Amino acid sequence: MPRPRAATLPSQIPLVQAPMAGVTTPQLVAAVSDAGALGSLGAGYLSAERLTDELSRVRQLTDRPFLVNLFVPDPEPQFSAEQLTAALDALQPMLDDLQLPRPGLRAPYAADFGAQLEALLAAPPAAVSFTFGLPAADTIRQFQAQGTRVWLTVTSRAEAEQAAQLQPDALVAQGGSAGGHRGGWQEDALAPTLDLTRQLLDLSLPVIAAGGLMTPADVRRVLDAGAAAAQCGTAFLLAQEAGTSAPYRAALERARQGGEAATTVLTRGPSGRLARSLANRLSAVETVLPYPAQNALTQPLRAEATRQHRPEWLSLWAGEGVAELTGEQSATALVAWLASEL
Ligand SMILES: Cc1cc2nc3c(=O)[nH]c(=O)nc-3n(C[C@H](O)[C@H](O)[C@H](O)COP(=O)(O)O)c2cc1C
Repeated sequence: MPRPRAATLPSQIPLVQAPMAGVTTPQLVAAVSDAGALGSLGAGYLSAERLTDELSRVRQLTDRPFLVNLFVPDPEPQFSAEQLTAALDALQPMLDDLQLPRPGLRAPYAADFGAQLEALLAAPPAAVSFTFGLPAADTIRQFQAQGTRVWLTVTSRAEAEQAAQLQPDALVAQGGSAGGHRGGWQEDALAPTLDLTRQLLDLSLPVIAAGGLMTPADVRRVLDAGAAAAQCGTAFLLAQEAGTSAPYRAALERARQGGEAATTVLTRGPSGRLARSLANRLSAVETVLPYPAQNALTQPLRAEATRQHRPEWLSLWAGEGVAELTGEQSATALVAWLASEL
């Protein structure tokens, strides 16, 4: 017998505030869910302890359903001492500029995925989404047995077919214009969001469309095309409750004016994994360690760049629609505006 499905979406409004690791604070998640859309916590970089803490902070702020996103890890990357030296050489202008010594680098380079899963299963949210790959079938069943919907992020029809075999509750279709990391495992897949959404509709799974959705008309358009919900990331970067740092906000404010400041590029500079960012000096760095080693290598440098208010050395993730960003406002107002044509 087919498994009975929970309602497609845990929220009333078919709008998802995208999980954005480092930006999606408990305050943002709770405000979005309270406004009737689905708030999402980007937990990919959090230790199990921090994750438990952030889950309880969201629950102190709202009784509404929310989503948590995790990164499916690649095998621990291998690289030589020469590769590390070359990656550090490529970062030397950044080190000089910020007056920093060469950093050390020690494994593990990423949070413990198994411990993150345990923490989540101990306090399961309404939905979880996975990015950068597919979790084990058992993991998916464990969440579903607790009533948690499982969404898998894909960037192409081929990835979606693989993901659908695992019987998730929905697919997140990330188009090529999306800000942040490419969420699938086929890095050259860059289909426009509407095309990708339409390509997945016959897989008999709800499709959550993501990438370049900045306005009420964009949100309505993907729903009209058959998406079950619109997932917006960049549109929330200037929300008052977002954890976007001051220099990142300043760069986004410049991008809002359009022109060159709004140029986005696909880069491996900050993390070693392909991601869409505002063009800056760090996005021009090409000699990198594999993900997530490069991420761990640049993390303390980016933290210092934030302290020194130097956006040219930050990972300024942003989608191609960044020039359409509205100014700083509350998440409540943003949800009401983005959903205003539904
Ligand atoms: C700052 C930032 C961080 C992101 N972090 C994550 C993340 O942790 N997990 C994830 O699945 N997607 C992440 N994404 C991608 C979003 O989930 C979503 O696909 C994307 O924002 C949609 O495109 P848009 O930015 O044009 O709205 C991130 C995007 C941005 C802009």
